[in-house]
Amino acid sequence: MAPDPSPLLLFLVHLSLLLHHAAAAAAPPTSAPTSAPKPPTHSSPNSPSTLDPKQLRALQSLNIPTSKDPCSHSSSPFRHLLSLTLANCSDDVALSLTALKSLSTLTSLSFLNCPISPIKFPAELAANLRTFTAVSSLNKLTGVWLSRLQNLTSLTVSRVAVSASGPTIILSGMKSLHSVTLSHTNLTGNLPKHWHSNLTFLDLSTNQLKGEIPISLTRLENLLHLNLSSNSLSETIPDTIGDLSSLQNLSLASNSLSGPIPESLAAMPALTHLDLSSNQLNGTIPNFIRDMKRLKFLNLAGNAFHGVLPFNATFIERLEVFKVGENSNLCYNRTVLGSKLKLRIAACDKHGLPLSPPPAKDASADDSSDEDYDDGDDENVGEKKHSGGPSKVVLGFAIGISSIVFLIVFLILLAKCCK
Ligand SMILES: *[C@@H]1O[C@H](CO)[C@@H](O)[C@H](O)[C@H]1NC(C)=O
Ligand SMILES: *[C@@H]1O[C@H](CO)[C@@H](O)[C@H](O)[C@H]1NC(C)=O
Ligand SMILES: *[C@@H]1O[C@H](CO)[C@@H](O)[C@H](O)[C@H]1NC(C)=O
Ligand SMILES: *[C@@H]1O[C@H](CO)[C@@H](O)[C@H](O)[C@H]1NC(C)=O
Ligand SMILES: *[C@@H]1O[C@H](CO)[C@@H](O)[C@H](O)[C@H]1NC(C)=O
Ligand SMILES: *[C@@H]1O[C@H](CO)[C@@H](O)[C@H](O)[C@H]1NC(C)=O
Ligand SMILES: *[C@@H]1O[C@H](CO)[C@@H](O)[C@H](O)[C@H]1NC(C)=O
Ligand SMILES: *[C@@H]1O[C@H](CO)[C@@H](O)[C@H](O)[C@H]1NC(C)=O
Ligand SMILES: *[C@@H]1O[C@H](CO)[C@@H](O)[C@H](O)[C@H]1NC(C)=O
Repeated sequence: MAPDPSPLLLFLVHLSLLLHHAAAAAAPPTSAPTSAPKPPTHSSPNSPSTLDPKQLRALQSLNIPTSKDPCSHSSSPFRHLLSLTLANCSDDVALSLTALKSLSTLTSLSFLNCPISPIKFPAELAANLRTFTAVSSLNKLTGVWLSRLQNLTSLTVSRVAVSASGPTIILSGMKSLHSVTLSHTNLTGNLPKHWHSNLTFLDLSTNQLKGEIPISLTRLENLLHLNLSSNSLSETIPDTIGDLSSLQNLSLASNSLSGPIPESLAAMPALTHLDLSSNQLNGTIPNFIRDMKRLKFLNLAGNAFHGVLPFNATFIERLEVFKVGENSNLCYNRTVLGSKLKLRIAACDKHGLPLSPPPAKDASADDSSDEDYDDGDDENVGEKKHSGGPSKVVLGFAIGISSIVFLIVFLILLAKCCK
């Protein structure tokens, strides 16, 4: 093993260690010493002990620098690893079964930006893990591989391609889950029909999930955060969505959902973040939204809502983010809202219909800005005038370039003809 260890393959190794004796002492004396791994050496509880030599060798085999005793910075005599995070590793780091077997005491294992090849975890490690995280790591995972981590309470997989027939195969056996993130994984299939009732956090955003939102999902009464954005979900939002009475964050943005905003949403008093943008939702925007006292983020843009916006300036200015643009039949009451707020929808006539065609998509260039409204008078006019400019310039440029290309081609042809 000649390679110089200085270009460290792992820039972060976070180790937290289990004091085996302390853990055993804390357990009720009657409870049988369960399947917890025995340290190979038996030292008296008082003598300072270092890391299990087998685990030390495992870390070394993973190129984790161990010249410094990972336990020495602590006054406690640590014995076994509980938690390991590998971050920013280069792709020549390889997991080995032997190393992972030695590390089976881990309850938490994280890979952050570690594009190495996954291997089948030894059964003991799979059973002990409570927290598993893979972000931009492990090249490619399968649903079957993930489904073996049955005792997880927290699963986070983000920016890793996961091939599976759907989330069901991954989640159905994990009976203790509290928190699930499977995001940016290109996961296909339908949402599961059965859920474990203790879920508090569910993020399945930015995948290729299709079909409807099952009613069973709305029975997760402990759920605080639900993000299903950027999938291909269709049909209507279940009428029972309001049964998620603890929910604080709800994002169903960028799907193909249709129909109205369900009335039951009024029964979600804790809601602070509501994003229903970029769907095909229709009907009017319900009045009860203005009574949601905790709301800070409201995005209803890019739908097919119609009618008069039921909000006054006090309500809108209280929000950190407010977007309603790109709803061509939606308008605002000028008597109530004046013309100061940039809402990107038209004012209403006296019948509650949009007065002028709403601002075209010209605003999309600076749509990323969170500031969807401000107090600048008549800025809309200036902006509109501006927006014609760039596209004309671009067009002019394009014509100019194509003329030059044409001219060059013409000259080449001419030169050839003249030979
Ligand atoms: C990993 O690298 C990124 C950027 O290269 C850096 O911002 C981050 O702090 C690193 N993470 C760790 C844990 O070293
Ligand atoms: C982990 O889950 C298995 C079933 O998959 C179970 O038999 C075992 O008791 C669990 N282990 C712990 C430590 O909870
Ligand atoms: C998902 O698929 C898209 C398009 O096929 C691809 O660009 C992207 O890298 C994939 N994401 C992952 C995490 O593999
Ligand atoms: C849900 O959590 C409660 C307490 O947090 C626990 O008693 C119960 O066993 C859990 N249920 C499941 C299915 O994990
Ligand atoms: C939902 O997920 C999307 C994409 O992954 C992300 O941009 C958005 O911030 C998330 N919403 C919330 C409320 O966290
Ligand atoms: C809600 O979403 C925001 C933004 O993504 C996040 O900071 C916050 O922690 C989320 N709340 C819960 C309860 O998950
Ligand atoms: C909303 O759209 C559905 C079809 O997606 C249609 O059946 C319904 O009549 C529409 N409702 C309104 C109020 O436009
Ligand atoms: C604005 O609407 C809120 C309800 O969202 C209401 O309580 C408040 O009195 C209204 N303010 C004005 C100035 O009309
Ligand atoms: C606009 O608001 C005023 C004052 O509240 C009201 O009299 C009028 O009917 C509203 N117009 C529409 C179209 O809703």
